Amino acid sequence: MEPLNHFDTLCIHAGQSPDPTTGAIMTPVFFTSTYVQEGLGKHKGFEYARTRNPTRDAVEANLAALEGGRSGIAFASGLAATQAIFELMSAGDHLVLGHNVYGGTFRLVDKVMARFGLTYTQVDTSDLDALKGALKPNTKMVLLETPTNPMLGLTDIAAVRALLKAEASAALLVVDNTFASPFNQRPLELGADLVLHSTTKYLNGHSDSVGGVAITNDEGLNERLHFIQNAAGAILSPMESWLILRGTKTLHLRMERHNASALRIARWLEARKDLKAVYYPGLESHPQHDLAKRQMKGFSGIVSFDTGDAARTERIAAAFRIFALAESLGGVESLVCHPVSMTHGSVPVADRERLGIHDSLLRLSVGVEDVEDLLADLERALRA
Ligand SMILES: Cc1ncc(COP(=O)(O)O)c(C=O)c1O
Repeated sequence: MEPLNHFDTLCIHAGQSPDPTTGAIMTPVFFTSTYVQEGLGKHKGFEYARTRNPTRDAVEANLAALEGGRSGIAFASGLAATQAIFELMSAGDHLVLGHNVYGGTFRLVDKVMARFGLTYTQVDTSDLDALKGALKPNTKMVLLETPTNPMLGLTDIAAVRALLKAEASAALLVVDNTFASPFNQRPLELGADLVLHSTTKYLNGHSDSVGGVAITNDEGLNERLHFIQNAAGAILSPMESWLILRGTKTLHLRMERHNASALRIARWLEARKDLKAVYYPGLESHPQHDLAKRQMKGFSGIVSFDTGDAARTERIAAAFRIFALAESLGGVESLVCHPVSMTHGSVPVADRERLGIHDSLLRLSVGVEDVEDLLADLERALRA
């Protein structure tokens, strides 16, 4: 096997080679808006920096390789990547959307894309009968997240692909792989047409940039998304491109630790008698644990738990010393999020309650600190 086929090696090298002018081993940050041409129509493939930038080229190739895809198209945020993917559709087309997708994704569909004539149905994509029932002749896309946020429900990606095939549906299957990262889950290999990431999370991994990427093996989709990237202009900046390249060099190391520490913490939480529920796909008690083992290499770093008591949850959230109370996830530092007042504030109360997102729920993004320190912090907070 080619050495560059191994994930750990791809993290460090894919898309990057020493700078030809200086030999610099790290890809430079190309802060430039334009490129000097030798003569009319004579250039090195770079004309204007919205269209192409060498640092962005490098990160796009790196991220594509990590997902086992042929091409990546990088955007200014996860939502900018999501919007570009939606712009593959036209007015009158129908989208099927997971019922527990990121609140910002729902807002983009409901408050922006719908104004331009996109129709949509939200459905629990883990329920194949419900998904089948939602498909229409004009369904052009199915977008799902697995695991979901913050309830960590899973969808069987290969089964959804098989369903679309059995139904002779032309809908593109788009998987938001932000929560799993390509270290743990590779949707293209399971039949997805497009993988979507908020690179803001595990791929960058250091909570110091916002970005997004779409990755595909399909040359037609690659061309159309590059066209939208240039036409609409929501590009990833050279600096953010470089920060993500810096981040992915340790993705494999970070994810191993995220996986191990989150599993340890989930088991520790589950063993306590004072919590109502613990949600983590790596727990044997998770209703889709068998699917998790089949579909994922590790179970990632997000653990949610419900105390069943909103006032107690508020006290706990304020008592952490290492886990920082903040939105977002996937960085090296541990975070604790209260979905009802933070990430899911825009989701209607009835929908939240139906999904299990109660005001007594907390979501942990388990970082790569010493796990004993994290457990001690949890112990202290839970006693608050
Ligand atoms: C699963 C998921 N997808 C997409 C996004 C949007 O990404 P961004 O915040 O980079 O726009 C987020 C943000 O939290 C997310 O959690």
